[in-house]
Amino acid sequence: MLCHAKLATAKPEIRKLAAFAASKREVPWRRVYGFPAESLVKFQHAPHARAKISCATCHGDMTQASTAELLVKHNMGTCLRCHRQYKATEDCAACHY
Ligand code: HEC
Ligand code: HEC
Ligand code: HEC
Repeated sequence: MLCHAKLATAKPEIRKLAAFAASKREVPWRRVYGFPAESLVKFQHAPHARAKISCATCHGDMTQASTAELLVKHNMGTCLRCHRQYKATEDCAACHY
């Protein structure tokens, strides 16, 4: 609320945000990327950042976006295709709990 205590306070979405803040409730964000909990996937950005994979490879060119939309669909096949290409891990336990 550092910004939105003062900025755009009349906008409906900002009012919703202010209401969550006022009642000290967590905002129930709707995720754009992610996997169902029952798939037991563990994904971490760190190894990918270290391997210098660009954000755009996995999220599209967000520098041109004004809303967060799903531009790249990820599933086990897309993970493994790239892992084979880079000779990265194909071990079940690397990606799954
Ligand atoms: C190798 C692919 C890959 C790269 C590279 C990558 N991401 Fe991600 N990102 C993902 C996946 C997959 C998820 C969903 C992860 C999960 O649910 O555990 C995700 C989730 C996110 C989320 C949360 C989205 C949501 O809907 O909750 C943000 C924000 C994000 N990434 C930003 C970035 C940024 C910024 C970069 C570059 C610095 C980046 N990512 C690079 C694959 C990638
Ligand atoms: C565009 C290429 C690319 C995509 C897509 C990608 N990865 Fe990776 N991933 C890599 C590279 C490269 C590494 C680093 C390998 C290394 O350091 O030797 C890596 C490393 C990892 C590691 C760490 C492995 C270890 O040995 O510690 C995990 C876990 C992982 N990726 C999970 C995922 C999952 C889950 C997805 C799909 C949601 C995914 N990755 C998609 C390229 C990719
Ligand atoms: C590089 C990462 C990666 C590796 C390695 C990997 N998986 Fe996955 N797997 C995923 C991702 C990501 C999903 C979720 C796909 C989705 O939600 O569309 C998934 C989904 C699954 C599912 C479906 C779960 C469900 O009910 O939703 C099964 C079963 C599975 N994997 C088994 C395996 C087995 C067995 C191995 C080893 C032979 C393996 N996976 C290796 C990334 C990986």
